[in-house]
Amino acid sequence: MHHSVAENGGFFLLVLCIVGGVVSSQGNKLKMLDIPEIGSVAVLYEAQLITGEGPFWKEDEQVLHFVDIPGRSIFRHDPATEITTKATYDEGVSISFVIPVAGQEGTFMIGMGQSVGTIEWDGQDGTALNFTPLTNVEEQAGNRFNDGKCDRNGRLWTGTMGYFNENGQISMNSSNLYRLDSDSLEVQVEYVTLSNGMAWSSDDKLFYYIDTWSLRVDVFDYDIDSATISNRRTLFDLVENGFEGSPDGMTIDVDGNLWVALYNGNGVVKVNGVTGAPEGFIRLPVPKATSCAWGGADLDVLYVSTAAEGADLSEFPLSGSMFKVNGLSTRGFPSVPVQIDIL
Ligand SMILES: *[C@@H]1O[C@H](CO)[C@@H](O)[C@H](O)[C@H]1NC(C)=O
Repeated sequence: MHHSVAENGGFFLLVLCIVGGVVSSQGNKLKMLDIPEIGSVAVLYEAQLITGEGPFWKEDEQVLHFVDIPGRSIFRHDPATEITTKATYDEGVSISFVIPVAGQEGTFMIGMGQSVGTIEWDGQDGTALNFTPLTNVEEQAGNRFNDGKCDRNGRLWTGTMGYFNENGQISMNSSNLYRLDSDSLEVQVEYVTLSNGMAWSSDDKLFYYIDTWSLRVDVFDYDIDSATISNRRTLFDLVENGFEGSPDGMTIDVDGNLWVALYNGNGVVKVNGVTGAPEGFIRLPVPKATSCAWGGADLDVLYVSTAAEGADLSEFPLSGSMFKVNGLSTRGFPSVPVQIDIL
């Protein structure tokens, strides 16, 4: 797929619709019709990223990082100047997340193919340098790393996803969710198909997790001191709640609600982190939302990444853009950099 990048100067207000119930082009069959449509959606960065992913708000610089997974690229967007810069690192494999390393300016941890490691980038348009693998994952050929995120202590969790065969079928249950310890990855959840969104409750007692193929958001008890999970149960089932698409990346707000990007689901659903009830829906002008993160000076802007791959670009020309959503009446937490020295 052609990978074009165009800078969008200024915010282009697309949608402004608050409350009143979602009007679905699919008809009236969905329970999601009962929840309010919320937020004011604007394009942050207009680009047909093949699979935009992994928004990360770097609080000390007040900038947003993200990746284009198949585009093998990492990005930096400065909302103050509206300038977006991009670096590629093309080893022939995908780059699935980018997380700054605490205390090491210009060093980022990335998931790259079957490896996790660090890379150097000066933030300018060009090429990232010096990928240094911390660890390789040994498992089925074709699997690769996907989403990654740190707990409040800066400890990295990242999972893998199965490969798609020539018939477009993914290898089931062949992936894992890992925790990075020193320079090795320790399996925490096995029999995963497509490891994706993660979030921790503000008291660090709960860990929310999405295996996209399950079409659920699950929750575990979390022990922040030992960084261990236990007692898995289902919090939110997309199908039971009448939602279309697949759960992808997610984040949490200060009120304990989850914000779950729906791939092929046209937006982001707000889910109560205790009851699992859907409480609101952000409708995007594109079908494939991939992930979201809070940012901005007050941490009250929800940045949402999307994918162009497989989308009907004549009908949804903004597919692959990064969006910003205001007016959500809550705020989140800054993204957590990796603390390498605690590992
Ligand atoms: C994958 O795991 C699920 C849930 O444990 C199980 O129902 C299913 O049969 C497994 N599929 C394969 C192909 O192993």
